[in-house]
Amino acid sequence: MTAKKGNDSIVEVSKLSASYGGTLVLENVHFQVEPSLKIGILGPNGGGKTTLFRVLLGELAPLRGTVIVHGSCGYVPQTERSRLDYPVSALDVALMGTLTRIPWWRRPRRAERLQALDALGKVGMKELADEQFGELSGGQRQRVLIARALVQDAQLLLLDEPFSGLDSSSAKRLSLLLDQLAAEGRSILIATHDVEQARAWDLVLCLNRHQIAFGDPSKTLTRSVIQATYGGEIVAFSEGASEQAHLILPPHHHDTS
Ligand SMILES: Nc1ncnc2c1ncn2[C@@H]1O[C@H](COP(=O)(O)OP(=O)(O)OP(=O)(O)O)[C@@H](O)[C@H]1O
Ligand SMILES: [Mg+2]
Repeated sequence: MTAKKGNDSIVEVSKLSASYGGTLVLENVHFQVEPSLKIGILGPNGGGKTTLFRVLLGELAPLRGTVIVHGSCGYVPQTERSRLDYPVSALDVALMGTLTRIPWWRRPRRAERLQALDALGKVGMKELADEQFGELSGGQRQRVLIARALVQDAQLLLLDEPFSGLDSSSAKRLSLLLDQLAAEGRSILIATHDVEQARAWDLVLCLNRHQIAFGDPSKTLTRSVIQATYGGEIVAFSEGASEQAHLILPPHHHDTS
């Protein structure tokens, strides 16, 4: 990957609004992200988290405002169970990361396969390279998709609810991997419904169709910001919490469909 110096931003988003043709889904979103940071993207179902990723990926054009991404952007989508019967191996999925670099008429060669295997090794999935992607566990699939992004040499990683459905040891393993990738200079945007987890990251962006807040979690995640972010979805704050509100979301708050 290309080295980033000093405080150069990886992403700059300014006055962004976006829609799918009807009402605005994102309004006045503005933030910038430097290298080596983990940023939690918080918001209710339908709050615009995935839409923001689609805009950053260039799949959806902004209605207003500007989005600048320096370097390449790797996407790890929300789990889509419907596509899991497609017969590809973990290695095939990682190899897809090379497709943007090789001409459409050429198949991946040995060099690309080695690169894909290398990336699988980095996420601890080399031994399972030949397994069917659809037969892997949720945590293993997430890691294969991260390997695909590493093969693309993504400077910016967009992870859409990567912790949903993971057991605690897989979640811990994924967390360590994200720490390692951030330490290498990559920045990682992580859409999540877990407010408590996001407190441990470097920054949080709170979205509820417009930007509620952006900044250091310890200063940003106040009770009023969390209430504005989740609106009616919140069930409770823990006893005794004042400004450092400890949020408790309803069980089964979110499915991974
Ligand atoms: N392809 C689409 N066409 C039209 N509307 C869409 C499309 N995708 C999303 N939307 C709408 O945009 C809004 C934001 O959706 P988005 O998927 O960005 O939310 P989200 O924060 O990712 O939610 P979740 O937590 O459920 O994943 C929702 O009202 C949704 O119905
Ligand atoms: Mg989403």
